[in-house]
Amino acid sequence: MLRLFTASLLATSALAATAAEWQNRTIYQLVTDRFATSDDSGPSCNTDSRQYCGGTWKGVISKLDYIQDLGFDAIWISPVVANIEANTSYGQAYHGYWTQDINSLNSKFGTADDLKSLSAALHKRSMYLMVDVVVNHMASSTDPPDYSDFSPFSTQSDFHTECFITDYSNQTNVEQCWLGDKTVPLADLNTEDDGVVSKMNSWIKGLVSDYDIDGIRIDTVKHVRKDFWPDFASSAGTFTIGEVLDEEPSYVADYTKVIDSVLDYPTWFSLTAAFKNNTGNLTALAATVWQSQSSYKNGELMTGSFLENHDQPRFQSLTQDEALIKNAMTWPFVQDGIPILYYGQEQGYTGGADPANREALWLSGYVEDKTLVTHVKILNGARRLAIAANSSFLTTSARLYAVSESTLAVSKPPLLALLTNVGNGSSATTTWNVPDAGYASNEVLVDVLTCSKVTADSNGGVLVQASSGAPQVLLPTSALSASGSICSNLAAQGQSSSALRSVVANSIPVALAVALVLLASQFNSDF
Ligand SMILES: *[C@@H]1O[C@H](CO)[C@@H](O)[C@H](O)[C@H]1NC(C)=O
Ligand SMILES: *[C@@H]1O[C@H](CO)[C@@H](O)[C@H](O)[C@H]1NC(C)=O
Ligand SMILES: *[C@@H]1O[C@H](CO)[C@@H](O)[C@H](O)[C@H]1NC(C)=O
Ligand SMILES: *[C@@H]1O[C@H](CO)[C@@H](O)[C@H](O)[C@H]1NC(C)=O
Ligand SMILES: *[C@@H]1O[C@H](CO)[C@@H](O)[C@H](O)[C@H]1NC(C)=O
Ligand SMILES: *[C@@H]1O[C@H](CO)[C@@H](O)[C@H](O)[C@H]1NC(C)=O
Ligand SMILES: *[C@@H]1O[C@H](CO)[C@@H](O)[C@H](O)[C@H]1NC(C)=O
Repeated sequence: MLRLFTASLLATSALAATAAEWQNRTIYQLVTDRFATSDDSGPSCNTDSRQYCGGTWKGVISKLDYIQDLGFDAIWISPVVANIEANTSYGQAYHGYWTQDINSLNSKFGTADDLKSLSAALHKRSMYLMVDVVVNHMASSTDPPDYSDFSPFSTQSDFHTECFITDYSNQTNVEQCWLGDKTVPLADLNTEDDGVVSKMNSWIKGLVSDYDIDGIRIDTVKHVRKDFWPDFASSAGTFTIGEVLDEEPSYVADYTKVIDSVLDYPTWFSLTAAFKNNTGNLTALAATVWQSQSSYKNGELMTGSFLENHDQPRFQSLTQDEALIKNAMTWPFVQDGIPILYYGQEQGYTGGADPANREALWLSGYVEDKTLVTHVKILNGARRLAIAANSSFLTTSARLYAVSESTLAVSKPPLLALLTNVGNGSSATTTWNVPDAGYASNEVLVDVLTCSKVTADSNGGVLVQASSGAPQVLLPTSALSASGSICSNLAAQGQSSSALRSVVANSIPVALAVALVLLASQFNSDF
């Protein structure tokens, strides 16, 4: 009893995780106000009116089973600090990005104890907490701002002189002029000022330690001078992943040197264009990946890979073709970066541009018996199996093969993903030819999305033809875990071809359960 208690205390202590520790995880991104309410009530939530809808940190705690069932072992929550309270003509600060006071929490989401309980509840499940932070600016509902409303940066000299960004090709303009507009000006902090810098650095250090945060997602990174970031990141003392919203890998590359990781926006642009209809270009997607792999500090291995987020129209607002949706959703899980899924995608949410893409998840009923929920569970499971089967999985860049406008194979041994954008309606036959897939001669593989078998040729290559427009995710049957939920009937065959062995394997859970009961009764008498 005592020993178990000590172990669980250790498990819930601060983790402040490193980049390497984040690399084998997958992240569920949520907007706190829209994910779950404290009492499991389901108030109406009109995204157009941009008001608080009632989600809280306690609500998140109450739905961790749902997130964990999907296969995620980390969450990214929207910003936690106090925001402006005004009812602006752009609505309220329900999204959390309109900072007023970095040293107070947003009471709409709960108390300090609630936030600490959230990180403790995650750590108890060996999950990580990532918190979104905004460093570039504070928000005001008046123009010019009343600087004394801000804390702790409460004088005009803490900010750059007001000018709205007009020229994205001028980096000084991007860094020192302001985002927002006269309705909600985003007052741009003077991050060239030593006093501002030292206050920011000590704030992030305190925030991470006070709330046992395991990683931070940093907003609007390209709007602050690059050489601000290394000291800020080391003050945070935990994993940092930054938003650098740009289509060009060459622009984003420099930021991979000043923080641990960047959100993979250039690939997102190509990914969306490639799969939103059947005239998209998978060669162009591959070209973006190749350029990123060769120009980022750690290739694409230290990027956050996503199909949706709170700033972009949901993918399912662009197409309703289930084959295209499944192909695009597969991508973040089968390539180099850390997979991130934006809440609601698994429930088939179709919201367009902000604010329509911040729907309340409680309106879905958190139903798990759904095609895309199953798809996500399998993808998380397959990635985990591949990591377990190959210690090089996380450190070796994907190879892209069989590239054409409409087909693409992504190889991260032992995982091979076959993608296409011909769509569900297509009658065309799609062919993926990957002669050097690296499998054993005649190795038996399984498409984990359908549990149908594919056999490698005598050189370990793969030639697959299909006509449904569906993606395929191949693993050797030997990589399936006998206890896992993925194609478990084939898993037993992967362990052994003998019928006798597979009968024995199937009966092990019963034997194990009996043994555990016996063991438990012994332990009870000991403690
Ligand atoms: C904003 O509007 C809501 C009602 O929609 C009201 O309850 C609240 O007091 C208003 N807040 C401010 C700061 O005016
Ligand atoms: C770039 O932007 C800065 C800040 O707005 C401005 O002072 C400067 O003149 C601009 N440079 C050019 C070449 O336009
Ligand atoms: C596919 O998307 C592109 C870009 O938005 C558009 O120009 C084109 O018309 C679309 N094609 C089809 C068949 O919908
Ligand atoms: C697809 O993208 C590749 C690489 O960017 C380009 O060379 C090719 O012309 C594109 N194809 C079409 C049909 O646009
Ligand atoms: C294609 O559409 C049919 C009918 O809507 C559906 O049953 C099937 O699952 C879809 N296939 C894919 C791969 O999305
Ligand atoms: C990630 O690595 C840690 C430490 O090696 C391990 O405990 C955990 O199971 C791994 N997670 C996945 C999803 O592979
Ligand atoms: C493990 O990954 C490395 C790097 O991709 C690859 O060379 C090797 O063949 C893989 N091994 C297995 C068993 O999949």
